[in-house]
Amino acid sequence: MDSKIFLDKLKAHAGKVAILTGAGVSTPSGIPDFRSPNGIYSKYDPEELFGLDNFLSHPSYFYKFAADNIFTMKDAKPNVVHHMVAKLESLHLINGVITQNIDMLHKKAGSVNLAEVHGSIEKGHCLRCGRVYSLDEMYNLTSNSPDKVARCECGGIIKPDIIFFGEPLSESEIEKAYAMIESSTLIVAMGTSLAVYPVASFPQIVLRNKGELVIVNMGATQLDSEASLIFKVPLEHFAQEVLSLLAYTRPALDSK
Ligand code: OAD
Repeated sequence: MDSKIFLDKLKAHAGKVAILTGAGVSTPSGIPDFRSPNGIYSKYDPEELFGLDNFLSHPSYFYKFAADNIFTMKDAKPNVVHHMVAKLESLHLINGVITQNIDMLHKKAGSVNLAEVHGSIEKGHCLRCGRVYSLDEMYNLTSNSPDKVARCECGGIIKPDIIFFGEPLSESEIEKAYAMIESSTLIVAMGTSLAVYPVASFPQIVLRNKGELVIVNMGATQLDSEASLIFKVPLEHFAQEVLSLLAYTRPALDSK
């Protein structure tokens, strides 16, 4: 049974486990991923959408996409995968989660030690005066704007605090992520194609430190051959099975 093998592996690493997630953990919440056949990049060019220069020269391209694909995240709900990750943390079976997702769903599910290395849609700021805007404020500004661009009172363009191509990752988030990686002997990559650096190098760091890699992902990744265990299954089924087994084995786990 996949979930039993998985939990035994977590226990063997005595909680020194980092979970690394990508867009595939949020597809059961109705948010598309990027590189699956029907993913966002099957319809949009990555550079046009998330290239910083493109955003600065014609922000309406990003904002028109965001109206239907990013601001909708404000109403998205965490699914069984996010709940499983939060549960594993509360039981001290993992030490935290590093996510590439900007959708806030790990936070909504209750994950505490969380590094959002590609930023989050929770806030944005004006590129001219620096004023900070909440997600609801940005959403209201875009809805009332003819070209859908969120503009500050000062006339500047507001940029959501998500990482565009060509931008450095947030220093505080990346520090949290490296702290988790360095203290982990096992990293579990879930719902990510491991195609984007520097995140794709995190499993390689754990492997270099003589740790192990487990992958739970439907599609192939460049590190499949390095993994101790691979589960090529829908994450929502996998997570449900893990949660069921945890409920069943809880007394033994709590008494550890
Ligand atoms: P990808 O779209 O590259 O990979 C998502 C992976 O999740 C794919 O391999 C799918 O097979 C798998 N998947 C999807 N739904 C699943 C499910 N229900 N069960 C199991 N597996 C499933 O997304 P990321 O790896 O997150 O960056 O992409 C990384 C970065 O690329 C993103 O953060 C974004 C993008 O460019 C920026 O925008 C900066």
